[in-house]
Amino acid sequence: MLWETVTFAVVLLQILMTTSTLPSLEKTVSSDITASEIDYRLPTNVKPIHYKIILNPLIEEPDPSTFTGEEIITVKVIEETESITLHYNNITIHDVIITRASTETNLTVNHNYDTVTHFWVISLDTSAGEDAERTFKANEEYLILIQYSGHHQDDMYGFYRSSYKDTEGKTVWLATTQFEPGHARRAFPCFDEPAFKATFEISIQKKRNLHAISNMPIKNDENEHYYNFETTPVMPTYLIAFIVSEFKSLNKTENFHVWAREGAIEQAQYSVDVGPSLLNAIEDFLLDLKYPMPKMDEVAVPDFSAGAMENWGLTTYRERIILYDKDHATAATKQQIATVAAHEFAHQWFGDLVSPEWWNYLWLNEGFATYFESFATDMVETAWRLKEQFVVRDLQPALAADALLTSHPITQYVDSPNSIRSIFDTISYEKAGSVIRMMEHFLTTEVFKKGLRRYLESRKYSNANEEHLYDAMNKEFQATKPELYADVSNIMHTWTRQAGYPLVTVTSEGNQLTITQKRFLLMPSSTPEEDSALWTIPLTYTTQDGDFHNTSTKQWMKSSSLKIGRPTEENKWFIFNVQQTGFYRVNYDENNWSLLIRYLRSDNYEKISAVNRAQLLDDALNLARAGVLKYSTALELTTYLIKEEDYIPWYSALNDFTFLNLRLTGTDAYPLFKVKQLSCRLLYFIIFIIFSTALIISKKELIFSTYEIGCLKCVHSHHDLKFCHRNNAERKSTIAYSHNDSTYLSPNLQSVTYCTALRHGGKEEWNFLWNKYVSSNYATEQSLILTALGCTTDQALIDGYLTKSIEDRVNIRRQDAASVFSAVYSNPDGFQLAFNFLQANYDSVASSYGTGVSSIITGIAGRIATQEQLDEFRKFVENKELGAAAEAARRAVESAEQNLEWSKIHGSEIESWLKGEPTSTVPSTTPGEASSLSLSPAVCVTLFTSILYQILNTFKMK
Ligand SMILES: *[C@@H]1O[C@H](CO)[C@@H](O)[C@H](O)[C@H]1NC(C)=O
Ligand SMILES: *[C@@H]1O[C@H](CO)[C@@H](O)[C@H](O)[C@H]1NC(C)=O
Ligand SMILES: *[C@@H]1O[C@H](CO)[C@@H](O)[C@H](O)[C@H]1NC(C)=O
Ligand SMILES: *[C@@H]1O[C@H](CO)[C@@H](O)[C@H](O)[C@H]1NC(C)=O
Ligand SMILES: [Zn+2]
Repeated sequence: MLWETVTFAVVLLQILMTTSTLPSLEKTVSSDITASEIDYRLPTNVKPIHYKIILNPLIEEPDPSTFTGEEIITVKVIEETESITLHYNNITIHDVIITRASTETNLTVNHNYDTVTHFWVISLDTSAGEDAERTFKANEEYLILIQYSGHHQDDMYGFYRSSYKDTEGKTVWLATTQFEPGHARRAFPCFDEPAFKATFEISIQKKRNLHAISNMPIKNDENEHYYNFETTPVMPTYLIAFIVSEFKSLNKTENFHVWAREGAIEQAQYSVDVGPSLLNAIEDFLLDLKYPMPKMDEVAVPDFSAGAMENWGLTTYRERIILYDKDHATAATKQQIATVAAHEFAHQWFGDLVSPEWWNYLWLNEGFATYFESFATDMVETAWRLKEQFVVRDLQPALAADALLTSHPITQYVDSPNSIRSIFDTISYEKAGSVIRMMEHFLTTEVFKKGLRRYLESRKYSNANEEHLYDAMNKEFQATKPELYADVSNIMHTWTRQAGYPLVTVTSEGNQLTITQKRFLLMPSSTPEEDSALWTIPLTYTTQDGDFHNTSTKQWMKSSSLKIGRPTEENKWFIFNVQQTGFYRVNYDENNWSLLIRYLRSDNYEKISAVNRAQLLDDALNLARAGVLKYSTALELTTYLIKEEDYIPWYSALNDFTFLNLRLTGTDAYPLFKVKQLSCRLLYFIIFIIFSTALIISKKELIFSTYEIGCLKCVHSHHDLKFCHRNNAERKSTIAYSHNDSTYLSPNLQSVTYCTALRHGGKEEWNFLWNKYVSSNYATEQSLILTALGCTTDQALIDGYLTKSIEDRVNIRRQDAASVFSAVYSNPDGFQLAFNFLQANYDSVASSYGTGVSSIITGIAGRIATQEQLDEFRKFVENKELGAAAEAARRAVESAEQNLEWSKIHGSEIESWLKGEPTSTVPSTTPGEASSLSLSPAVCVTLFTSILYQILNTFKMK
């Protein structure tokens, strides 16, 4: 499953904040990952073999909310038992009969339900007389016949309902499913754990003009009353899906369809075009291990809680993650649509064909799905440089998240529904994906592919744990490269079974390098335990005279310290972690940093690969943040960016600047920081990045586009820098681009344009955009506008907007409500606006958002930059009855305190560097050089704030 993250900026901020909460907004709600005292696991003495399910959905009209079901579960008793335990939730049982299959005798039973565990315990009625059966016998099969009714909720879990307006404005209902991780039990009583695999035969009653789809194709013997689906292969409950709707479909082959509401179906073309190629790419990668299902349907669901879901043969998506129209979606969105499809398709093997034994091995699903997002899509959309993007979009954010003391191991035991939900996080997705990529490089791609195939072949239609993966890799490694044999299992345990990752420090003395390792933490607060943590690290390095192609392991490092010969002369640099294939950070001695900085500033800088330039920036800025490296050194390194024209290093730099930007807001260093960053040239590249996410748009086109918007002319000419707010006429002309359809405004520019217009406009502009949002038929455009609407700095408009997010369910879907709040507080002035609203309306916010209110509090607190703000926030937290959010609020205060503390420690060092005071032994830019690149502060401050976070918002991630 792919969780929807509200906006890139928010995720980024959450990762970057030195907070103890887990790093992303919707991936995790609770950070309660400890095992609970309640036993949530089903007994293993009975296992399901086959489910036959008949459903009658959407019963009432015009406001349907219930369904009925009839189910026959065939179970096999493994060990003699007095009772059978399975799950249901939010279902009313009308009747249950158990028949012993061999004798066809009906047994009298009693049953009990537990509302906490959702356990339904069916036991034999022993009062039924002397010769009544007292136990279910081992090796016998029993049939459980159940009549029940259930509820189509609006909360986007289970067999829930969704709606949309058709072209005539009439509300159309549909019923659809989201079962992962534990919601199948809301649609039918079942053994709702991933190891209880069975076959499923589903029938759905026909009605009106509603059409049904499910994991399998419809049987040939279709009759007039039911859609009868073919029996599925052996599979877990959480991957079952069915959708009852009036959707239409597009297809280019017989077995690959994309479904959406009629009014949006033509937007499915790109997905129809790219989908089959992505499936083929994964088959090729897996050495021709075929897609196991007879067909694939992709469905755009109007109300959807996650971003997308990998139900076997029937993947489901939010509309804006599957429907694409080039005039209404950014280049970044197009990339997202392809990579998310690749993610869900990779699951068809990793998760669906081979399922995890239990949720502690969730990463065997999500790590591989994350890996294939980039590595399968790269085989289809070859110009997007996705292999490099993987490093800056997945690996580096994972390094950020995993540098907190509260991080957890990749393989993490969980049991309660909350703890299960909480591991759908950056560790199970991006960190696992990165560690999988590291494994590929130390095993070689050839062995890796063979190993994957062996793993899948050996565990198909069954379940797996991490040892099954390592075993398969070991066998292939021994077969292919006996001379290189590595103990994959022992190596990998150091990465999957402990939290965090190492900082590798390389210092040089004469012709020797000393290499040490130690856990890297952003807030160093060491306990002896962390100090002694060790990883088995596949070290790679290259030198000034070497190249960046060879990523095979040069040296294994198991101990805390190691010496090797210096690989190059003393006046030449070396770089560890070639192409950042290893999941670790690297620090050097001053001499090597200094050599690197000089070289980056020279005309040869591109000889260091783009990924390693990104690595140097990200490592240096994070080491400085943790107090391991002087800020002056890290900032000196960033000055080479004046020349940088590549998207990859810029992506890392901007991520890391976001943290500085937030922390320095309100300090004396802030104006200097912005000025320094905002040479026009730098601005040029910031804007370049907006358009070229996937390098789809050439620089030439970019310059042309920026000419279209008067207020961004500075990009092209230093002398023509005007601002929309200074000149009312220009403000109008900016928004006129969207008024007047004859003037084409590239979707890549809409975000910046709308936001700038709103920041400097008033009610009129806001209403104009709101109406555009309400009437838009494009989910991608709607989401872009929803974010832009938070750009206004008018408290009354903000209050109105946030109120709508709570009350106006007609126009703001529940799935989108959280992005309204984040759109506001991600806005540079948004802390105060969002916070004022929250204080005045806490109770209605809390009841509308439920557990989501914690993330709002955390998000707002992340913006606290001054002591006054902190005092105000603390007063709020202390005086308000925050209920379930109290714990998150307490942690938010703590992390805000840490952030202010951070600013105290590092603020002055950064300030003196920005002022050009000598603080470092590293050669500094001459003052003249720096000032010739700067704009006047007033100009830049405005530009910076209105643009930077827009950029971040543009990169809406999966
Ligand atoms: C299911 O949940 C809904 C909403 O909470 C409630 O109205 C309904 O009565 C519940 N139904 C059953 C059978 O528990
Ligand atoms: C057992 O129950 C089923 C379902 O009610 C019924 O059709 C069948 O006749 C019963 N069998 C016996 C032997 O009573
Ligand atoms: C689209 O799907 C239908 C139904 O499966 C099939 O009959 C038709 O041939 C398909 N169209 C193409 C172009 O393959
Ligand atoms: C890559 O580096 C490894 C380890 O140093 C070496 O054994 C191998 O020959 C190199 N491969 C190439 C193609 O240069
Ligand atoms: Zn997934």
